[in-house]
Amino acid sequence: MTTTRPKRKLAYHTATVRNAILTRLPDALMGGALKARHVAQRIEIAERCYASAVWPRDFDGLRIAHLSDIHFGHLLGAERLLQAVDAVRAVNADLIAITGDLVDLSAAEAPLLFEQLSLLRARLGVFVVLGNHDHLDHPRAVVKGARDAGLIVLNDESVRAGGRDGLLVAGIDWAKSIPACTARLRRCGAGRADLLLAHNPKAFPAAAERGIPLTLSGHTHGGQVARAANRRHNLVFTQRLSAGHYQREESHLYVTNGVGAWFPLRVNCPPEIVVIEMRTR
Ligand SMILES: [Fe+2]
Repeated sequence: MTTTRPKRKLAYHTATVRNAILTRLPDALMGGALKARHVAQRIEIAERCYASAVWPRDFDGLRIAHLSDIHFGHLLGAERLLQAVDAVRAVNADLIAITGDLVDLSAAEAPLLFEQLSLLRARLGVFVVLGNHDHLDHPRAVVKGARDAGLIVLNDESVRAGGRDGLLVAGIDWAKSIPACTARLRRCGAGRADLLLAHNPKAFPAAAERGIPLTLSGHTHGGQVARAANRRHNLVFTQRLSAGHYQREESHLYVTNGVGAWFPLRVNCPPEIVVIEMRTR
């Protein structure tokens, strides 16, 4: 990385301490069993099909691979990363969306990550937005690594995928609250997007308000510990939109469990890669 590292923020140090106390220490006390059990869980390929009257007819049947919350670092290392990348490649999607938290703590861990992500290919491109963990240490290094790997990083902007009449893909950077997400979405401009990538599912109310047919998010990890009978009953109490599919009129949201985590426990909440087929109603 050639970008100069800025002074590390308090949030980075807080996350490092949390990681040491809640992840590394218990894992060490269990002789590595916690991490081993965590990464032994199979990454599920979740196939979904949604229809919207405002999804562009030219892209009826488009298949999107959604990968999120890799958290590359201590819990998710090289071997697991290869599994995830291979799984996404095997899907052979038209477009790949990566919705943030590419790294867990530090962008210093990023070179191998971006070497692997550079292997991802899709007809309409591979799009990325940043999550809160990408901002902990050195977000500019994450952006540079992604761009050097041939990925399209969307920082409160929208681009046409597939030429002048292509699919309008918008992406917003990490934002914590509904108003902050809404403000970022406003900055994307270029009319109503067809697809929105936002790490935080709190972007969905504004996306639905604008009639965006599909929003893809991560951040919650599906709550990580959920009731088998209802996976929306999970550990994430701060998010009404915490896991799976939500719909408001012609707008859909998918909140993925993601493939990684910062805490080594998943119950009724498997790591997943989502393949969404979008149809025009
Ligand atoms: Fe995350």
